[in-house]
Amino acid sequence: MAEAKLLDGKAYALRLRERVAKGVAELASTGRKPGLATILVGVDPASEVYVKSKTRVAAELGMASFDHRLPVGTSETELLALIDTLNIDPSIHGILVQLPLPKPIDTSHVLLAIDPNKDVDGFHPINVGRLGSVAPGAPLDFPVPCTPLGVSMLLADALGSLSGRNALVIGRSNLVGRPVAQLLLRADCTVTIAHSRTRDLAALCRTADIAVVAIGKPGFVRGDWIKPGAAVIDVGINRLPADDGKTRLVGDVAFAEALPVAGHLTPVPGGVGPMTVACLLYNTLQEARRAAGLPFAAV
Ligand SMILES: NC(=O)c1ccc[n+]([C@@H]2O[C@H](COP(=O)([O-])OP(=O)(O)OC[C@H]3O[C@@H](n4cnc5c(N)ncnc54)[C@H](OP(=O)(O)O)[C@@H]3O)[C@@H](O)[C@H]2O)c1
Repeated sequence: MAEAKLLDGKAYALRLRERVAKGVAELASTGRKPGLATILVGVDPASEVYVKSKTRVAAELGMASFDHRLPVGTSETELLALIDTLNIDPSIHGILVQLPLPKPIDTSHVLLAIDPNKDVDGFHPINVGRLGSVAPGAPLDFPVPCTPLGVSMLLADALGSLSGRNALVIGRSNLVGRPVAQLLLRADCTVTIAHSRTRDLAALCRTADIAVVAIGKPGFVRGDWIKPGAAVIDVGINRLPADDGKTRLVGDVAFAEALPVAGHLTPVPGGVGPMTVACLLYNTLQEARRAAGLPFAAV
């Protein structure tokens, strides 16, 4: 049996980064430089790694990055005051608050405080509403959550038109599942959203031409759940102990089982993961263009 075509997110993300770098250079000719502010509150090793990679790639693409590290115990009021400052700073076009935030800071207050036109993570309720009400095929001229945007780019690149396909999104988080479902609906898929209370998920999955899996359970979706030839996008990132005493990353899909059944499949690592940072910088470039009075450009 033929094996699934692997969707190389690493290679796609590199190409996207090159296009963003070109967009940054074009903007530089008007005397403007996109600026990304990152805010990390407290100490969390995984978040440190994410923030570092975001600021490193921003610099590689010619953007300015402003790294704000706030100590454990920072109050919500202090964090909101920093966001207010960044909101009115004309050199900043994107504000990223690394989640999760330590308690007792209320994440919803923080997301609401970010200027929707600097909300490069796409989590502000205004941007959530824009995505929820976008017409089929209409341009995405507002920030869209980065991982879902990456998923939709990979699918469009692999399949072309998604119109009329049955798409199953497993997971309904605000971060991944719901925005992925909205993007697929905009692309004219017939979308089903599954979650932990869904009945007979395996049977539902066998009807899906496209399955996007974002649940956080290693190897949860088995090979015999997959419709032959389906496109399977594995968003899951799970760290498991490896034989050498270190750890290894696996997705939410049983990769070896899915490989001979699916038509297209994302590996973990190297599939959706690299798209997230590239899309963040894509969003930052778009917001810098907006601030310069230029239209969104599909780079
Ligand atoms: N590649 C990337 O850049 C990237 C970015 C973000 C997240 N991720 C990864 O993607 C995964 C999901 O992240 P998330 O933030 O969306 O997680 P989350 O907020 O924990 O949401 C998980 C979702 O999966 C559903 N679920 C859990 N168990 C299930 C089951 N047995 N059957 C069906 N659905 C089930 C949950 O349903 P209920 O709503 O009913 O509880 C929930 O909607 C994680 O592995 C995360 O690390 C990767």
